[in-house]
Amino acid sequence: MKRKQFLKISGLTTGSVLLGSYVTSFLTSCGKGQMNMGGMSGMNGTPVNVTEGSFTRLLPIPSVVGANASLSPQATVSNINGTNLNVLGYQPDSILGPTIQVNRYSTVSFNVQNRLSEPTNIHWHGLKIPSNEDGYPTDVISSNNNFTYQFLVNQRAGLYWYHPHPDGLTAKQVFQGLAGLFIVNDAEETALNLPSGINEIPIVIQDKRLSATGINYAPTTMEVMSGYMGETIIVNGVASPFTEVSTRFYRLRILNGSNARIYNLALSNNADIIIIGNDAGLMKSPATVKTLILAPGERLDVLVSFSGLTVGTELFLENRLFDGAGTAQGKQAFKIMKFKVTQTVTDNFSVQATLSGIVSLNATAAVKTRTFDISNAGMSMGGGGMKHTINNKTFDASRVDENVNKDTTEIWIFDNSQGTEPHPMHIHGIQFQVLQRTGGRGTLIASESGWKDTVLVMPGEVVKVIAPFEANTGKFVFHCHNLEHEDDGMMLQYQLS
Ligand code: C2O
Ligand code: CU
Ligand code: CU
Repeated sequence: MKRKQFLKISGLTTGSVLLGSYVTSFLTSCGKGQMNMGGMSGMNGTPVNVTEGSFTRLLPIPSVVGANASLSPQATVSNINGTNLNVLGYQPDSILGPTIQVNRYSTVSFNVQNRLSEPTNIHWHGLKIPSNEDGYPTDVISSNNNFTYQFLVNQRAGLYWYHPHPDGLTAKQVFQGLAGLFIVNDAEETALNLPSGINEIPIVIQDKRLSATGINYAPTTMEVMSGYMGETIIVNGVASPFTEVSTRFYRLRILNGSNARIYNLALSNNADIIIIGNDAGLMKSPATVKTLILAPGERLDVLVSFSGLTVGTELFLENRLFDGAGTAQGKQAFKIMKFKVTQTVTDNFSVQATLSGIVSLNATAAVKTRTFDISNAGMSMGGGGMKHTINNKTFDASRVDENVNKDTTEIWIFDNSQGTEPHPMHIHGIQFQVLQRTGGRGTLIASESGWKDTVLVMPGEVVKVIAPFEANTGKFVFHCHNLEHEDDGMMLQYQLS
């Protein structure tokens, strides 16, 4: 952004006595992208307030397909809020794609026919698969062409997901509707006898900006800074829905599929939320909390119990206020969806103390440590305006940023210590364990044990992860999962060889 523009936006004039010092701090802080200067916090974006709906529409459950399926990204319509709105879908008349559900060791085959008027591709978020099946940003399917993704699913049971990843078009295509869940099951998970069938509920939380006819995606420069947020919260494609429950345990499989919005989830009756898993499957043991933060791209596997509640009780999954996430996030509490207790049942389920045989990696296992400066995610003076960067670089498909040796373990550090915006950092091709957070919240949160693929780095935080890089050689990207930041260039790549 040019300085003249900046001054206009901050509402300052040359007559202001404050101008001199503001300009000085603006210029000196420029190298670190310090956008949050005193009263000019608007530079970091402002909240987009949510308008709650009526909670009278039934929560839909996406259809389920297996190891072989066809997906056809297309312009279609979906009934989000009582009217058919123009959206993008992986199938007709639906904003979300089908849930893919397979057992570990399945070989899958998905034929993707691109019926959009622009390129797209699919990234299988969280899956450890070869680079040429991973939806690399320039490996795209052009309009009216098709491609069949084929790979072996060999990893832990978990809630993964899929979405487009074409360079510069990811945010728009996801916001307009392209996303779906990818569930992997395995024997370790089956042995736990977790609530299943209608007692296992997928919950895809997204915020959308709706017009009378469709989904608006037109971020301003400011909204590229904060990320694009919407005033309508949808769950599984429907605004402010409700679902009926019995007095028993439910397993909720939650994805934050929003472009930028972070949620601080809680139940309105302040009931316990028992976390049993996160991005890449079950944790070692359950963790009980009242609230938990979920950033874009992250997933949660939780147990909640409605036992003891009387028929007729209504309660909500809600978002509570939270601090430390910059000026645009956490400033408003709102309801997300409603649970209506409609039936009394006997429930003998109890949570086991050990869920999964996870071995915690020790920092000494790492052969190399790499540090990534993600504080510099605000601006560059000079040329083309503001850019979100990693190590002062924006994505360039022709440049390899990091060379990693296969079958080695590394520590990656995401340093947002000087930053003013939250960044959920995601690495393709691997899963990691979070070792440490300093600054900001200063500690790991309950859902950050076990295996993950996305970790939230709040302003002021430095987060250290440890990852085994296995044998899928090739080029993989890593990026901020605030999709506006990603498309703005906050993405680099590593070459595994
Ligand atoms: Cu879910 Cu590279 O993204
Ligand atoms: Cu991914
Ligand atoms: Cu970011």
